[in-house]
Amino acid sequence: MRILGIETSCDETGIAIYDDANGLLSHTLYSQVKLHADYGGVVPELASRDHVRKIVPLVQQALADAGLTKDDIDGVAYTAGPGLVGALLVGACAGRALAFAWGKPAIAVNHMEGHLLAPMLEDNPPQFPFIALLVSGGHTQLVQVDGIGQYQLLGESIDDAAGEAFDKTAKLMGLDYPGGPLLSKLAEQGEVGKYKFPRPMCDRPGLDFSFSGLKTFAANTIAAEGTEALADIARAFEDAVVDTLAIKCRRAMDQTGINRLVVAGGVSANRHLRAELAALMVKRKGEVFYPRPEFCTDNGAMIAFAGMQRLLAGENASLAVTTTPRWPLSQLTVPGAN
Ligand code: KG4
Ligand code: ZN
Repeated sequence: MRILGIETSCDETGIAIYDDANGLLSHTLYSQVKLHADYGGVVPELASRDHVRKIVPLVQQALADAGLTKDDIDGVAYTAGPGLVGALLVGACAGRALAFAWGKPAIAVNHMEGHLLAPMLEDNPPQFPFIALLVSGGHTQLVQVDGIGQYQLLGESIDDAAGEAFDKTAKLMGLDYPGGPLLSKLAEQGEVGKYKFPRPMCDRPGLDFSFSGLKTFAANTIAAEGTEALADIARAFEDAVVDTLAIKCRRAMDQTGINRLVVAGGVSANRHLRAELAALMVKRKGEVFYPRPEFCTDNGAMIAFAGMQRLLAGENASLAVTTTPRWPLSQLTVPGAN
């Protein structure tokens, strides 16, 4: 079975074709980063309009790259939420319409489930159960994954997501949008331990996170130390975020007795985070899994993969085009259960 996956929840148009027997056949991505850079963040209306421009050519390209035609496709998966409602609507309209025109099932995919399952596209996929750390621009969550569609939220950010904290702090430092990767690059030139940032919510029990205080701490440190200290401040900020994430991962694994960790979402591309979690898992004699770097951030491949799990179970979305801009993972069900 082959499925076409469509991702348009934010500022990336991602299209992919996944085959349940042969894996990923093609994937294309158009990033709108340049379009939004002047505004310092994603402008929803501009995002929607650009998805409209790009979606059909990218679908055609994905089919051509895989050497397939529409007749080779058995279903169409699209991101239905969470995300920006206008951006989601473009992918949902296109996906539902293509499926209808082709006489095939349509699958409404949860974007976070896509991120969560993305490591399963790799050669050495994780076995269930595992603990997933989802760290993106919109989410910071620890989830116990017992199987596809069986997600138990263990903890999440009570304010800013980790990626959002990276981006906001980068903006304070005068870095371009999205600043997360740029801040991380700057941090490489910084001295370890020059400044000490707090590890929020680590001194009390529980698996929730809070990152908005770190951004304020960075603002105050920049004001006190001046811009020549930016690299050292970036280093201290990144260390604090990475340490905090690692401490909570360790706690989640201790609490559940599960020694297998999956890290996904845009921030999982962070090299420092990967190194720290790799060291943690060596120490614990456990395993850690990531998507390849290009599938850490938003992409169509993860949507095609998640959609395939539900297509195989016979799911088919209603003909009405609906999106679910707020759609917690805990509301998902086992494929085919509804
Ligand atoms: O998953 P994603 O592409 O989009 C959302 O669904 O949010 O994640 C984007 C987020 C942005 O906040 C971006 O700054 C952050 O991931 N990010 C990073 C790195 N690469 C991407 N943050 C820190 N270090 C990185 N290397
Ligand atoms: Zn995402």
